[in-house]
Amino acid sequence: QPDNTELPVEYGRLKQQWEIARKDVRLVELIAKGSYVEVWRGRMRKYPRRNEIMKVAIKRIMSEACDKERRYFLAELEVMKAIQPHPNILPLIGCYTGSDPWLIMVEYAVEGSLYQYLQHHRPGDLRVEINSDRRDSVSVRNQQLTSLKLLSLTAQIVSGLQHINRFKMVFYRLRASNILVCKGGTCKLSGFGFGVDITERNMYESNSLPLRWMSPECLVDNVFNTKTDVWSFGILFWEIVHFGHLPYPDMGPQEVTEKIHTGYRMPQPIHCSGDLYNLMLMCWAENPENRPSFGDIMQNLHHLAENAE
Ligand code: ADE
Repeated sequence: QPDNTELPVEYGRLKQQWEIARKDVRLVELIAKGSYVEVWRGRMRKYPRRNEIMKVAIKRIMSEACDKERRYFLAELEVMKAIQPHPNILPLIGCYTGSDPWLIMVEYAVEGSLYQYLQHHRPGDLRVEINSDRRDSVSVRNQQLTSLKLLSLTAQIVSGLQHINRFKMVFYRLRASNILVCKGGTCKLSGFGFGVDITERNMYESNSLPLRWMSPECLVDNVFNTKTDVWSFGILFWEIVHFGHLPYPDMGPQEVTEKIHTGYRMPQPIHCSGDLYNLMLMCWAENPENRPSFGDIMQNLHHLAENAE
């Protein structure tokens, strides 16, 4: 007689029951520190098969965090609980909010950030000296293989963005260092939303966003919405094409913000097709209304991938 009382592991807990006993979580190594959270590599007992141990990333609220930061932390947790699972969204594994310090457990991304991944996988013969006039030649064969792989990474990110858009969420600090790469080279989005529902409130104030990724209206009015995400995606796409180079490589942040307002855009990279550059330029349209949707971008990427084959 089969025992049907035990649910499969992935449905082992009801969706609402994310709380993990503190004794089942172990923090092993501090891997990153923000203004009010630390990120640790750690281990956690699997639920409900508690004899199995899994590797996790643990976000821990810092004791110095103020009330507002504590609300952000819990808001982010609520967003993660609310978003349905998707292959390109970093899954929530559990949380501990019983007593201070609170913990959020998510999948551990073995490849680190997309920024690190791009730098590690930069092909040896793709030496693009974008800081100087000297531009090394690029092997055509390698270039084609690389293009497809890069387009696939990009499409995964867009797929994740389309998913969070369905939940009326914005990412608002989209850049290669904020995307994680998991087992098998899968890109996953994490740390978006912070409880911002764009139907209720399409403006979000922040003073800690990196200028090089921000759209003109972000820089002036501090607005964040899907169209500002599309601009930042264009910059992220540029980062991907350049295997993790700093955007606007010859400029300081102040110069970037000044030139953006006069209509300056980064030039067409020499190893990048006209169609691909056009997609970047569309994302950087001055008028947010003229920027493509993530659906349009996905169609374009499919088209580019067909031509790259
Ligand atoms: N850094 C920040 N979050 C991470 C995660 N989930 N896995 C690995 N490194 C991380």
